[in-house]
Amino acid sequence: MSFPTHRPRRLRQNAAMRRLVAETRIHPADLILPVFVREGITEPVALQSMPGVVQHTRDTLKAAAAEAAGLGVGGIMLFGIPETRDATGSASLDPDGVLNDGIRAVKEEVGDSLVVMSDLCLDEFTDHGHCGVLTEGGAVDNDATLEIYGRMGVAQAEAGADLVGPSGMMDGQVAVIRQDLDDAGHQDTGILAYAAKYSSAFYGPFREAVDSQLTGDRKTYQMDPANRREALLEVSLDLDEGADMVMVKPAMSYLDILRDVADASDVPVSAYQISGEYAMIEAAAANGWIDRDAAVMESVLSIRRAGADTVLTYWATELARWIKEGRL
Ligand code: PBG
Repeated sequence: MSFPTHRPRRLRQNAAMRRLVAETRIHPADLILPVFVREGITEPVALQSMPGVVQHTRDTLKAAAAEAAGLGVGGIMLFGIPETRDATGSASLDPDGVLNDGIRAVKEEVGDSLVVMSDLCLDEFTDHGHCGVLTEGGAVDNDATLEIYGRMGVAQAEAGADLVGPSGMMDGQVAVIRQDLDDAGHQDTGILAYAAKYSSAFYGPFREAVDSQLTGDRKTYQMDPANRREALLEVSLDLDEGADMVMVKPAMSYLDILRDVADASDVPVSAYQISGEYAMIEAAAANGWIDRDAAVMESVLSIRRAGADTVLTYWATELARWIKEGRL
């Protein structure tokens, strides 16, 4: 009988020892809470496919931001759902439109205690649900869309966004937004580029969250899930164009991409744990098939371990509370 000379189990023998040697931690400041604000409602609307997530009124949005800030969450990412939509998404440019108004409300509420970010994309604002404007033939028109994105960036900066988050995957979007922000005197407004954003089935519940009008798919602009090398191209282009931070999205099915990007990037890397990732865990837990809290923690820890400096997650506020209570 020979005995092991190496005993890695020594460092796993109790919670204190495991805590000491943990290689990855989750801190509230690493978390970003995505939120939806909807025009024309007086009570929050619960989302069936995302239990626990709502479409906010202006007032409940402010309360959610204040709660997140109070628990030390790092940032908030706003999505707006307008009452009326048109072919060019013009409500996105209205300074009093639902998203720009929401940014202003949150900024007034939280000041600099939370980094305020806004989704910079047209899909919530167009009546066809695409992330850009369409040609007569129905294709998404890259360069005509860029012109609107640049103006959206300025409108969002003027409303008080600290970082704008272009998520439409149009070629050249970061450069145009950077140029327009600078020309308008918003040199200090940053860009969190959704650099490697894949065309994913896991966005499903988000379509309910923003009442999406989309028929068809986004495969001509979002990346093919088959591709890995292309993610590094997208990241390097966005960095050349002036991105301050880059994102990989979705997160859990793309941890290899996240690791590649984290290794290659000189700027902070975010990952977005998207609606479908949230819904899968909530649904399995609701059926009693997994331990909800343990699965939530493990999922976010895995995303951090794969290389994300910051994680967008619908559980951000809840996780921050658990951390404060010493459960993590
Ligand atoms: C585009 C956008 C989407 C999401 C974030 N920004 C939808 C899409 O690309 O189809 C999805 C987020 C999620 O699923 O949680 N404005």
